[in-house]
Amino acid sequence: MKIVIVGTGYVGLVSGTCFAEMGVDVTCVDIDRQKIENLEKGIIPIYEPGLEDMVQRNIKAERLHFTTNLTSVLNDIQVIFSAVGTPPDADGSADLKYVLEVARTIGQNMQQYVLLVTKSTVPVGTASLVRQTIQMELDKRGVYIEFDIASNPEFLKEGDAIKDFMSPDRVVVGVESEKAKELMTKLYRPFLLNNFRVIFMDILSAEMTKYAANAMLATRISFMNDMANLCERVGANVNMVRKGIGTDQRIGGKFLYAGCGYGGSCFPKDVKALIQTADQNGYELRVLKAVEEVNAYQKQVLFHKLEKQFQSDLSGKTISIWGLSFKPNTDDMREAPSLVLIEKLLKAGCKVRVFDPVAMPEAKKIIRTKMAELIPEDSFNMYFANDIYDAVLDSDALMLVTEWKEFRMPTWPVVKKAMTGLLILDGRNIYDENEMNELGFNYQCIG
Ligand code: UDX
Repeated sequence: MKIVIVGTGYVGLVSGTCFAEMGVDVTCVDIDRQKIENLEKGIIPIYEPGLEDMVQRNIKAERLHFTTNLTSVLNDIQVIFSAVGTPPDADGSADLKYVLEVARTIGQNMQQYVLLVTKSTVPVGTASLVRQTIQMELDKRGVYIEFDIASNPEFLKEGDAIKDFMSPDRVVVGVESEKAKELMTKLYRPFLLNNFRVIFMDILSAEMTKYAANAMLATRISFMNDMANLCERVGANVNMVRKGIGTDQRIGGKFLYAGCGYGGSCFPKDVKALIQTADQNGYELRVLKAVEEVNAYQKQVLFHKLEKQFQSDLSGKTISIWGLSFKPNTDDMREAPSLVLIEKLLKAGCKVRVFDPVAMPEAKKIIRTKMAELIPEDSFNMYFANDIYDAVLDSDALMLVTEWKEFRMPTWPVVKKAMTGLLILDGRNIYDENEMNELGFNYQCIG
């Protein structure tokens, strides 16, 4: 079977590579020439464990191809996945220009039946716009060609992308015809051989499912962060509360970890977009608005703890941050809690020393551009450290923001010796409180 995937971002590249790994002949298309040239050489634009090897293996096996020219690969292709970006507009709603551009190109060039599957996260109702766009182009050409559209939202997580795609909990597919259903079944059967969990439904529900899933997960996290803040005030321990409730099968143990806020490209963007969709349909999503509010507060929690400790006198203090990406195993800095903290620390007159095992180049790029607008040049007191110990040199406090395994077992006496102060703020609850106290640190975690 041959397929085309348009868009070589996270979702497009991982899906394309995993389909190729399963034996499908895949052509990935992107308008970014540099990206495609690199991919042809097996160089991938993102950090994702295991992906580069898999890309190289499948290029070698001639099952994975790359091009910038969508029209040139449309011949003989029945299934086209669209995995282009849907960046947020100023008001938070998803911008559909790339999604509709793909539909236009297909309508202008298709010669035989095509199933266009939208994998990008798109607002409910986008599929009918896609259908209209293709139909309009066919009408302009004055031809009649049968086509189908489908919605197949992707649930993979960055850092676990390959595992999530190769053995998914479920695959959600919104279809309108038996033919589309058959094609999608054929493509996904190898992934779910022993337990075929492709859930077919109407297209609107499939589009909605993606947003509802991310909104529910974000809600769980904000709920637990709210509980954690209350635990601190009443003297309870959120880790015990998490275990206590997570063992109830109706609740389940996953995505219940309190921390310093969720980030990434999906939760913040999708929660905003869903709130927008509701507004446009005359309904207010009150729970989700609260979820956002809690998350914005939570990203500042470590800063508040610091202020409390130093009685708001932070000017001239040296503060270290371990972990910059929004979570471990990715170099993705989008909506990362570290960015909020760095901005607040610099504005308060602190010197900030940072280290991340993988995201340093990405962080340098983003922090320089983002902070240039927010922080005057003479307050930009930042040092990008070479390793975890260099990062804590002469610092008054250390903040653990992203729980990379590199930070799990540091040699604490070396850290203690390098630091001037003793305050450790653990934003991901990864250290043992008793051990830290025995070592002589002033240890504070979340909840
Ligand atoms: C998420 C969804 O999980 C995935 O299904 C969807 O396709 C895209 O969005 P991703 O953004 O890659 O994936 O990361 P995820 O592992 O879900 O983490 C999101 C954020 O939540 C991170 O900042 C993480 O640190 C935070 N988080 C996660 C918590 O604070 N507590 C938890 O218990 C779990």
